Amino acid sequence: MNRKPIFAANWKMNKGPSETEDFARALLPHVQHQTFPCDLVIAPPFVSLAKAAELFGNVTAVALAAQNCSEYDAGAYTGEVSAMMLKEFYVHYVILGHSERRAIYGETDAVINAKMLKAREINLKPIFCIGETLEEREGGKLEEVLRRQVTKGLEGFSDKDLSETVIAYEPVWAIGTGVTATAEQAQEAHAFVRSLIGETFGADAAARIRIQYGGSVKPGNAAELMACPDIDGALIGGAALEASSFLQIIENGTKD
Ligand code: PGA
Repeated sequence: MNRKPIFAANWKMNKGPSETEDFARALLPHVQHQTFPCDLVIAPPFVSLAKAAELFGNVTAVALAAQNCSEYDAGAYTGEVSAMMLKEFYVHYVILGHSERRAIYGETDAVINAKMLKAREINLKPIFCIGETLEEREGGKLEEVLRRQVTKGLEGFSDKDLSETVIAYEPVWAIGTGVTATAEQAQEAHAFVRSLIGETFGADAAARIRIQYGGSVKPGNAAELMACPDIDGALIGGAALEASSFLQIIENGTKD
């Protein structure tokens, strides 16, 4: 199965509109009028989406993602942003289930599932994040945790919904820590997640779904990780804050 890799820059709470413009100025010469063997996605904070849409809106190689959306349509939800609002900024993807949302903001599997369904209702493509903590891994709970997150997060998803979804496997202990999962650990987890998809959605869907790796991906480890058969790109935090390093990861990660 030939899956197109997808590399997404998750800026987290970094870069307002003016820094977004700086990043775009550095990236644009390398992505305008270019074709890539992979999809490129940039996920700025909400307040920078308008600027990103203005600068990348007509660049076919780059798609925009939001880092979150509400599970509700509209109304009295102070501080929230609906999936529908995102559509006005040429946003095609939305990161959901990130471990920082789970751990810091208490998002449960049920809340994440509600957001996933809401995103699909208006045709946004979820980048659905899953991953275990170090304690869970060391306690032998890796498979149990991944099974729960995948099953609950994708509850109510149709085959079509799944086909528009990207999964990001991000071991929590590797996020922002500089510690990366070894290629072997990552491959093993990815193969397991793929098998979980197969159990619910069938072998074809499992073979088709793209599963990104995330957690301290850098130019220096991208090639080894991306060479694993079940790893289809990366969700990158820190190392995607500089255009040059984001590009280097893509280059190293897509070499034959
Ligand atoms: P990191 O973040 O690359 O800084 O580890 C990845 C992520 O949280 O998506």
